[in-house]
Amino acid sequence: AKILLLHGPNLNLLGSREPHIYGVTTLAEVNEAAAHQCSAAGHTLETLQSNSEAALLDRIHLAATTDVDFIVINPAAFTHTSVALRDALAAVAIPFVELHLSNPHTRETFRHRSYLSDLACGVVSGFGPHSYTLALQAAIHQLDMAPR
Ligand code: DQA
Repeated sequence: AKILLLHGPNLNLLGSREPHIYGVTTLAEVNEAAAHQCSAAGHTLETLQSNSEAALLDRIHLAATTDVDFIVINPAAFTHTSVALRDALAAVAIPFVELHLSNPHTRETFRHRSYLSDLACGVVSGFGPHSYTLALQAAIHQLDMAPR
């Protein structure tokens, strides 16, 4: 199956961005580990990081016509702001897991609300870069349980 891994704004800075919160692993390292994890499980992975809400929306729309079976997304700050991202994920109706490196619930109150969580199959947060591994593991499990 085909899995799409999406990274929202500022995650291109992973590794140097507030390392006490987000760790020192770079986005390239995250994507490389993710590709290995998916291929080892017999799945293919496509990735996109964008600081642009529009680019993420367009990529989600494209997913619907390019046989993407599952989306794993760290929406970053758009988690807390974007009705449009929510509507795009609802529109394509591709199952998704939401993930965060940090645990937003231990942080500022404006991070406690997610516009996506109630549409997600599940949410993983708080484990640093390992959150990606856990979220992909959940996606692979979902695909193995109910292949699309
Ligand atoms: C984040 C948490 C968000 O609140 C924040 O805006 C981010 C990253 C995380 O991975 O912990 O940019 O999604």
